[in-house]
Amino acid sequence: MDQIKMLGFAGSLRRASYNRGLIRAAAASTPPGITLDVYDLAEIPLYNQDVEDAGEPASVVAFKLAIESADALLVATPEYNHGMPGVLKNAFDWASRPRASSPLRDKPIAVTGASPGRGSTARAQAQLREAAVFTGACVMPLPELLIGSAASHFDHEGNLIDPEIRAALVELVGALRAWTIRLHLDAVA
Ligand SMILES: Cc1cc2nc3c(=O)[nH]c(=O)nc-3n(C[C@H](O)[C@H](O)[C@H](O)COP(=O)(O)O)c2cc1C
Repeated sequence: MDQIKMLGFAGSLRRASYNRGLIRAAAASTPPGITLDVYDLAEIPLYNQDVEDAGEPASVVAFKLAIESADALLVATPEYNHGMPGVLKNAFDWASRPRASSPLRDKPIAVTGASPGRGSTARAQAQLREAAVFTGACVMPLPELLIGSAASHFDHEGNLIDPEIRAALVELVGALRAWTIRLHLDAVA
């Protein structure tokens, strides 16, 4: 695995979202040996099993294909009422189906998140990790990257402006690469 292909998405639809800014910053600062494509969850409809049974919407098919063709996922979650936002949970719910052939199965995932508060998405990240594990994804345990007081680390457009956080993000992406290679080697052993 010389080149690791990552897919990054954030659980926010907000134009100047801090979390979308995090994913953009990660994509713009990938270390050698990594590419990171940014995915937008805006087109994914609310999960409805009747709709799924009638045939997955094109936006869901595209999302699942993007996950499948990536070696690893980087997910940035906002925190809404001490949990992950519905946008993100909904996207995971679609991608988790059907369970036996879900593209999330065995997929290496790293989690991060930013919020203006001091709790810095700790609860949302914990909830996201728990849900992702149940889909069969391989959630990277460490390092953690929680960003609080986001307004002082991002500009008004949601662009990351803090070099220390950018460095921590690069470290997280590098760790995800190592985690992905380790899981791949385990799988072929
Ligand atoms: C419905 C709602 C609930 C929220 N609850 C929390 C919360 O529990 N903890 C927190 O740190 N921020 C909370 N916030 C503030 C968000 O962290 C803030 O809006 C943040 O900018 C969202 O992420 P984004 O910038 O990526 O869109 C909440 C915001 C909304 C809209």
